[in-house]
Amino acid sequence: MSLVDTIRGKARKTVRRIVLPEGDEPRTAAAAKIIRDEGLADPVLVTPETIAAPSNAATLKRYASALYELRKAKGLTEEGAAKLAADPMYYGMMMVKCGDADGLVSGAVHSTGDMLRPALQIIRTAPGMKLVSSSFLMEMPCADVGENGLLVYADCVVNPCPDAEELANIAVATAETARRLCGMDEPRVAMLSFSTKGSAEHALVAKVRKATEIARGLAPGLLIDGELQFDAALVPEVAALKAKGSPVAGRANVLVFPDLQAGNIGYKITQRLGGASCFAVLQGLAKPCNDLSRGCSVDDIVNTVAATAVQVREA
Ligand SMILES: CC(C)(COP(=O)(O)OP(=O)(O)OC[C@H]1O[C@@H](n2cnc3c(N)ncnc32)[C@H](O)[C@@H]1OP(=O)(O)O)[C@@H](O)C(=O)NCCC(=O)NCCS
Repeated sequence: MSLVDTIRGKARKTVRRIVLPEGDEPRTAAAAKIIRDEGLADPVLVTPETIAAPSNAATLKRYASALYELRKAKGLTEEGAAKLAADPMYYGMMMVKCGDADGLVSGAVHSTGDMLRPALQIIRTAPGMKLVSSSFLMEMPCADVGENGLLVYADCVVNPCPDAEELANIAVATAETARRLCGMDEPRVAMLSFSTKGSAEHALVAKVRKATEIARGLAPGLLIDGELQFDAALVPEVAALKAKGSPVAGRANVLVFPDLQAGNIGYKITQRLGGASCFAVLQGLAKPCNDLSRGCSVDDIVNTVAATAVQVREA
């Protein structure tokens, strides 16, 4: 079964309420119909008109007041909060924050930053999570790497320069995404570098080694190893030469890149030269919110909503 079919199947098990704050965008409206018809979620289309409807006045006031309380220490005024709450993106975030919806998907119109910033400011991180990051689920054309051809890459979207502790958090969150969304019972996490097990020495390598140690402390049962080069992580013959005895090398299914430049370049090479199809989700937020690419298709929106529904945690 393809990754998308697995995710759609999981989403159907419990129907979640997912907000689409770009409700007047044609692809989004078309996707909402499919999502509802296929029982993947209960989509809520938010538009400036739905927000301004007289029947909605009390809710808008409630969201404005809650937003003011959340952000007044950061300098947000009551007038500013009222204005922001009437913006569909902020209104949608407040629906999720106040428990009127389970998650949010946007980005067919807005940029990544436009969606990420309110998510970080309003939804914030899940208990125990230090930061929000992303996973790219990469489905390779061949089944002989990762988990039957499936690899999870992180972080390719959010954190430009994670320090060792942040990198460790990214590793743990990505293993959780691999379990929850991809059905990987045994995430095997490779902490990537240009060095394998001391083959080179540099501050950048030391950061990856330290992150590996921190992640082991955060998730004692997790199979994680580093620092590993890309080939040592994936190719059994290279692993046998360079990282003998590693529980991960040569059979990794989760790859954690040392920074955003490496991660973003790495996923694009895998997609464009390796022929992978890919799919991104945010992780570490208290409630799931996901970003689309502005070139997304109706199907991409449907799949991202399904993935968001699967990411919802029981309260
Ligand atoms: C995520 C991002 C948008 C935040 O940048 P920013 O607007 O400068 O925001 P700030 O650093 O002022 O942070 C805004 C808030 O989010 C929080 N925050 C920032 N990054 C965070 C993270 N990774 N996890 C959790 N919280 C985070 C900050 O603590 C701050 O909270 P506060 O306002 O309550 O104090 C920025 O890191 C970014 O642009 N990342 C790269 C995104 C990108 O372009 N990717 C390209 C590939 S698609």
